[in-house]
Amino acid sequence: MQELKQTIKDLVVVGKGILAADESVKTAAKRLASIGVESTDETRRQYRNLILTAPEIEKYISGVILFEETLHQKSNDGVLFPEHLRRIWVVPGIKVDNGLAELNGEQITKGLDDLGERLEVFKKAGTRFAKWRAVYSISENTPSDLIINRNAADLAKYAKICHQHGFVPIVEPEVLIDGAHSIETCYNVSEKVLKAVFNALKKEGVKIEYIILKPSMVISGKQAINRANVDEVAKKTVKCLKATVPEELPSINFLSGGQTPQEATAHLNKMHTLGEKLPWHVSFSYARALQEPALEAWKGKDENLHTAQMAFIRRAKLNSLATIGKYREEMENEIEVM
Ligand code: 13P
Repeated sequence: MQELKQTIKDLVVVGKGILAADESVKTAAKRLASIGVESTDETRRQYRNLILTAPEIEKYISGVILFEETLHQKSNDGVLFPEHLRRIWVVPGIKVDNGLAELNGEQITKGLDDLGERLEVFKKAGTRFAKWRAVYSISENTPSDLIINRNAADLAKYAKICHQHGFVPIVEPEVLIDGAHSIETCYNVSEKVLKAVFNALKKEGVKIEYIILKPSMVISGKQAINRANVDEVAKKTVKCLKATVPEELPSINFLSGGQTPQEATAHLNKMHTLGEKLPWHVSFSYARALQEPALEAWKGKDENLHTAQMAFIRRAKLNSLATIGKYREEMENEIEVM
């Protein structure tokens, strides 16, 4: 328990969030292809180096979720990435799900079978927290009760196994943004999903004070017409969380889920300026919304390394400000933030 308590203390810090840098080899290839770079062990290492060694990342980021491959790769200075993070007081974490599998036209998450053994290996590599992602697709007949219950049960089993091995589990139920659904539909689905997740966690006897929730925001579908504005997204998201998430949960760290970097920052900021008391630490655990500008600035070229690192740090800073309600839209146009 002491171990879990310490990890929560190190991850849940005012003004800081968690970086998701755990793209699988397949997803990393997609991201690199978007800037015309071939995905190889070395280009993926270079890209991780860019992000993880960005100057003063530790001012805004308390923990980083890594992909297994990255555990064994080294920075340009020859330091294993988990060790590099440890040296700058950033907690290394690990994605432990093995991706998705189909079940009756919907998706479940793989990787429970040998999870305990893998956690022991990941512990030796220096990681202290984990992530497991379940996805829910909104359409006329989905998500089904079958998928909602199955994903909730698997998330709870994963969380329990993590605790048995001294890992803080990030529980990630992602209601996907794809589709033309309204924000109300997203609210109803998110509420049902979160209720099922916390019921399952309770049934497994998981101690809520040692987990972190990584939810999607309550938001209109990406293809919806008349998408809800920032105010509505923030209000409905907070309302949904208050209706479903126990107060003893220490931290909620949102995923960005296909929002633009600016949207993800504005929504998070708004939640902190509604004038509502939030019983949990409310922050970010973005992948794309933190990394996209850096990826675009880098283009795989050494000479762009510094500019790309600055683009990443800028986004990290803006999101850090959003976690305390101090972000303003005008900052997007200012060269120097703060
Ligand atoms: P995005 O912020 O890009 O949605 O990624 C978060 C994540 O970790 C998905 O599992």
